[in-house]
This record gives sequence, structure tokens and C-alpha cells, in this order.
Amino acid sequence: MTRHFLRDDDVTSLEQREILALALELKKDRFAIRPLAGPKAVAILFDKPSTRTRVSFAVSVAELGGYPLVIDAANSQTGRGETIEDTARVFDRLCAAIVWRTFGQANVERMAAVSSVPVINALTDQFHPCQVLADLMTLAEARGGIGGLPGAKLAYLGDGGNNMAHSYLLACATAGMGITIATPASHQPDPSVVAAAREIALSTGAVVEITDDPHVAVAGAHAVASDTWVSMGMEGEAAERATPFADLQVTGDLMAEAGPDAIFLHCLPAYRGKEVTAEVIDGPSSRVWDEAENRLHAQKALIAWLVER
Ligand code: CP
Ligand code: NVA
Repeated sequence: MTRHFLRDDDVTSLEQREILALALELKKDRFAIRPLAGPKAVAILFDKPSTRTRVSFAVSVAELGGYPLVIDAANSQTGRGETIEDTARVFDRLCAAIVWRTFGQANVERMAAVSSVPVINALTDQFHPCQVLADLMTLAEARGGIGGLPGAKLAYLGDGGNNMAHSYLLACATAGMGITIATPASHQPDPSVVAAAREIALSTGAVVEITDDPHVAVAGAHAVASDTWVSMGMEGEAAERATPFADLQVTGDLMAEAGPDAIFLHCLPAYRGKEVTAEVIDGPSSRVWDEAENRLHAQKALIAWLVER
């Protein structure tokens, strides 16, 4: 059966560890494997803007021996209303995998339902699972390897209802970590995602916590993460989103509460002076550039793992 990666809990704990282990190996020996030799093509489709995802997936496919086809929806028939199913049926005859950044999660689910090749979620309104694979890899590096993930605590401060918050909940639960989301009552995570994370936690030993208190969130955290308060597609709400998250800005003082070894993560793009101060994102605890590079290694491992299934 074709495996897809549409949300973070599409892999088990053990599978997540396998992918992260391969990612760390590929970082040491970038051209060690060529599962897309041929070259086999991978369709990389964008309905929303992107810098890192576009570049890191294109480079991932090239480094695995394949051919990256980067397609903007606006310039393809999907942008004119061709159905997702018909698009999938064409892509899967021609490509070894399909990577898609889109709006609703239902879009990638519809694509996966008919595709005979793996479909990878490159960000939807609900989840950003490839990003969080890279984040876990970055935290593993800071903690001496994948063995350092179970029991480690990640605190996310910001919009609890966005894709990053949801992906942290599922991926950290899968990794057996502590995950604390600090968010105002008005921007809570989707209850079904919290329930899924708590269900996973029962078998992995993860601890899932939701709070509105940034001090509670960062206490004992090994990683502190934030994200924009205005995700793609929410630009119309920018004005009303300026104030509810103000107390959740990641400052130097807040990082000091987390402790000297805590790292700062941000998926980028970042807005200095909003969700994080320049002092933190450009300071010694920041790992955001490693995190951006790790998109490459994590996605190469994911693609290799999926196409070899
Ligand atoms: N972090 C991330 O996905 O960045 P882009 O939007 O630039 O792809
Ligand atoms: N939450 C952000 C992530 C960007 C990579 C957004 O969806 O815009």
C-alpha cells in the first residue's frame, strides 16, 4: 500500500525515528543514496508562496538523483479548476511522488486517496509536518542524537490554532516528548488534534499541555519555538491579530527562564519585534538556520523512506 505523509501522525514513533536517523546520516554524507536515480521526477506543487520549502524540496529531489518539477498552481490547470483527482491521476503516471503546499487539509487527502505514488504535505492550513521533522532533527542535534528527544520539552508560543502548533502537538507526542502550547483562549488548537496528541501520548509517554501563560510554557523547556501571528491566508485578519499574542513574544528574558541550554526554533519567515525579538532570533540560542538547512536532510530522508516502501 502506498504510504503518504499528510500529517505528523501518519508515521509511528519507530518510523519517525527511522526517518530522523536517516536524515542525520544524510547530513553527514549528502550523496550517499540515490533512490530517485533515473532520474525519476517529483512534482512539487504550490498554491501558496514559499522560499524554503520550494528550494529545499527541489534540492532534495536533485540530490536523491531525481528531477524536481516545481509547479505554481496559478500556471497550471489546477488553478483553473481541474479537479484534484484528475490532477493526481496524471501526476502519478509521470512522477515518483507528489509534494503539495495548499490550503485545506482535505485537498491533500483527496490527492492521496487516488494517487498510487506518495503524497507529501508541504504545508496546509492545518499542518506543516515536513517543517516539524526538521525541527525535531535540530533538537536531536542539540541533545546529542535522537535518543535525546524522548522526555525533552518543546514550548511553542503563539497562534495555537495554526499549522505549526498542530504539527508540534502530533510530532512531539509521537516522539515521546513534552509539548506545551502557550496561546490565548481565543486561538486554541483544534480539539481533535489535541485529542489525537493525547491518545498518542498514552503509548509514547509524551506530555501534552495547553496554557495561556508563557512563563509556565518555557519553564524546563529544551526548545522554545514561535511562528508568525498571521499565517498565509489570514492576511485580512492582520490588524486584529496584532494584540492577542503580544504577551507571547519570545524575548531574551523569557529564553533566560527556559535555561542556558534551551534553543530557539522558528520555521521562518520571522517578523522581528512581533513573535520574537531580534535579540533572540539573531542571538546565541537561535538554531533557525540549522533548522532551515535541516529541511533538506529531513525531506530527503522522508522521500527516500516513502518511495522505498
Ligand atoms: N518554513 C517554511 O515552510 O518556509 P517557506 O514558506 O519559505 O517555504
Ligand atoms: N504558520 C505559517 C508557517 C509558514 C511556513 C503560515 O502558514 O504562514
